[in-house]
Amino acid sequence: MNLHTSIFFRMLKLGIESYKPTAPHEIPMPSASHGQDHKTIRIPYLGPDGKVLAKDEDEAVRPKILKMIIRLNNRLNPVVDADKPWASVESGKQNIHSIFGNYFPKSRVDWQGCDPTSDQVLRWWVFSGFGALELHRLDEQTAQSEQVNGQTPTFVSSYEFLKDLPVRPGLAGYGGAVYLDRQGNILKMKLRGKDVFPTDGKAWEAAKFAYRSTSMVWVTLYDHLFFSHYSVSNSGVLATINNLPIDNPLRLLLKPFLFRTAAINNGGADSLLPKGSSFFRASGFTWEGMEEAYSLMLNRVALKPLPDLLRERGIDRASLSALPEDIFPFGRDGELYWNSLNGFSADILHHAPAFRNIEKNDAVKAWWEQMNGTLRFSPSDLSTDRMATFLTQFFYTVSAFHSWVGHVTPYVKDPSIAAGKLFPDAVMANQQNSAELGVIASITGLPTPSLLGDFSHLMPDDYSRGSLNRLHENLLQVGQEIQQRNARRDIALRAFLPEELNLSVAI
Ligand SMILES: [Fe+2]
Repeated sequence: MNLHTSIFFRMLKLGIESYKPTAPHEIPMPSASHGQDHKTIRIPYLGPDGKVLAKDEDEAVRPKILKMIIRLNNRLNPVVDADKPWASVESGKQNIHSIFGNYFPKSRVDWQGCDPTSDQVLRWWVFSGFGALELHRLDEQTAQSEQVNGQTPTFVSSYEFLKDLPVRPGLAGYGGAVYLDRQGNILKMKLRGKDVFPTDGKAWEAAKFAYRSTSMVWVTLYDHLFFSHYSVSNSGVLATINNLPIDNPLRLLLKPFLFRTAAINNGGADSLLPKGSSFFRASGFTWEGMEEAYSLMLNRVALKPLPDLLRERGIDRASLSALPEDIFPFGRDGELYWNSLNGFSADILHHAPAFRNIEKNDAVKAWWEQMNGTLRFSPSDLSTDRMATFLTQFFYTVSAFHSWVGHVTPYVKDPSIAAGKLFPDAVMANQQNSAELGVIASITGLPTPSLLGDFSHLMPDDYSRGSLNRLHENLLQVGQEIQQRNARRDIALRAFLPEELNLSVAI
């Protein structure tokens, strides 16, 4: 590993040693007075209004001296792309394990004896893994034009929208799309605009590697960092501290789901987002390419209820009803979890005395307006039902969704699964890139408060405490249902198992 990576890894290890986990029952009550005068730090690549709080309500933010070392490290150390290849997949795995094994979180993906680079696992990637984030049903005309030997594809998971973003010299561009029939069988791929078929030997293997790698890079950059951390959670913590008094029931209800958000977003603004930062180095974009990616992301940001999102993409349960029951595990398990959260939000908002007429509360109206200014939740007029749906989507995003899109360990512990930057025709990450990715995965290994834990002290009244108990009971049933589904799947999906879920984007 080069000097930049090794300095960053050392600082990370110091952070890990001094980290004190917080149990859900230890999450403090809101304490910082609301108002517009909380100091913020401007983050230019997050758009014209991009900013993070300078302080967290509960946790210390990274000390100035460490921020300075990180900035100097980003600025002064050269970016290294070319490096030695691993002698073999096995030796790569062993070396990565010996350096990062103590810091990685436990992998939530077990390939269950399948070769992770196989076509079978590619299908898992599309319907359960990071490919599912960009999966949609093809419209009739496009499906006809993408036929393979008279077979018409039904679905595509495509990262081809990244193919023209500039990458550093010596690297290949991103991209990759997988086309599948109505049973979920793979028909072909597209890489940087060209069709590639399963019979194409090395070109097929390289296309699969490029697709897996591109999806990991984009999901980390967009779904994890930009969307979960800096859009949804960040807007939540800013709107809450700006508008809601410490005893407002909504402030209490949101507290566990915003725990440590300001501290982690403040830290990531130096170490992950800027030019020269560890994520910039682990990926292959030029800084111009990264800026283009940021403007793509800004255009995309919108918080939509999961059922609407799946319906728009033609992959909701009703649209898939004529197809195999478990064709789309990520959507099917996700809907189950979402419905459980929605039961909780709707129950509290409709029945808890503390929330009676909440939509008429001036502080809540101001909070809603600020949230929607950045998150574009639509339709945006405030009612109890709409607030319940909004909170459901908010809780879903900062808990299960964030934990899953931030979980890259299974893919970086084996260099043949994915890389952060692509070399022409590559099918494996090199030693330097494995180290860069290993450090990023290590950041996610710290324990944070669990959704299944007891945070009832933050519920604003007895009725809400009862709702939380019912949510926990319901989530255990969701867990059992997913376990039963997993027993019938070739490769399990652990994204929505309740015991895996954190409350907030605390890491
Ligand atoms: Fe995260």
